Amino acid sequence: MKEAPWSTRAAQGNQSALRGPAGDRADEDGSMAEYKVRDIAADSVFSEPVFAGDPGDTPPEEGAGFILNAPPLPFSRALRALLLEWEFTQVYSRGVITERRAGGAPGEGPAVSPRAAREQLGRAAETYRNLTGFAGTLFTQISMAGFVDHAGTAEQMSGFVKSVTEDQYFMLKVVESARAQPGSHALSEHAVKSAVISLIIGAQIKLSAPQMTELGVAALLHETEMLYIPPRVYLATQWSSVEDQKLIFTHTALGYKKLSSFGFSPLVCRAVLEHHEAMDGSGYPQRLSGDQISLYARILSCACACLNAAGALLRKDMALVLKEVLEPQRSKYDETVLKALSYAVTQSPEAAAS
Ligand SMILES: [Fe+2]
Repeated sequence: MKEAPWSTRAAQGNQSALRGPAGDRADEDGSMAEYKVRDIAADSVFSEPVFAGDPGDTPPEEGAGFILNAPPLPFSRALRALLLEWEFTQVYSRGVITERRAGGAPGEGPAVSPRAAREQLGRAAETYRNLTGFAGTLFTQISMAGFVDHAGTAEQMSGFVKSVTEDQYFMLKVVESARAQPGSHALSEHAVKSAVISLIIGAQIKLSAPQMTELGVAALLHETEMLYIPPRVYLATQWSSVEDQKLIFTHTALGYKKLSSFGFSPLVCRAVLEHHEAMDGSGYPQRLSGDQISLYARILSCACACLNAAGALLRKDMALVLKEVLEPQRSKYDETVLKALSYAVTQSPEAAAS
């Protein structure tokens, strides 16, 4: 596997800082600046996320709008062509543009035509919706009937594994931009997103199809015991009492016990038990370290940390969250897993003719 491109990005040079093509400097007053899509050179890199906007719109507020692109991903030819095809004539960003010259483009994925990109994005959105519905059904079964069929769950998950693996880049875009669905549960939404991110990591490290299914099932069910904990406790960024902390700590062991009783495989149950362990031994409930922690749990831990940090920072772009939050705490995470996710979030499809 190649080294995560962004970790050495600063040393790669071959780039020059430019003013925005619309003549604006987005960072002078901290407000969004408008950039005309036709004027943006293919494979340029914005220093801050780029948002979509309809013609005549006011710039989107921070945290709103659809992120099209985030550093260090280049503003690819495919994205530029797609926007023009959809008649998005301008985009918005607080950042400035850096033009990437020939030979300096890490992170290019396979060639994808604008039409194929549009189709893949639509498929990814549909997969996300279906996975959300599946997670909602599982959560309802557990809370109402107190039982989940492990064989049926695995069978359904295997279908999602294929979809997520085939459309990784677009699944990431959907996860980054997804907003809570009306009536959806915060735990269910987290389960879906962590399943997608975990499966993308699993695909990067070439897990087998049965392993991917187990990983996806574990990710979807890893927080179900939180259903029995008051939201004021599990949604808190800081615990207000030792009792609340103890309550939270129980969800891993109780989840392990419950899924074991339902007949889920030992590896799925271990992932649930160990998903809050850390490679440096600072996690819970058993303070395991390094190879003592199962692979699925190491993947799930990294996926959850990335999503939680993105939520806490109100940042949608995974590449920035990885660089600013997880990378400085890399001793907590499996190095291969972290690199795999870093690699995945810095890939973007290359342009191809329609
Ligand atoms: Fe958890």
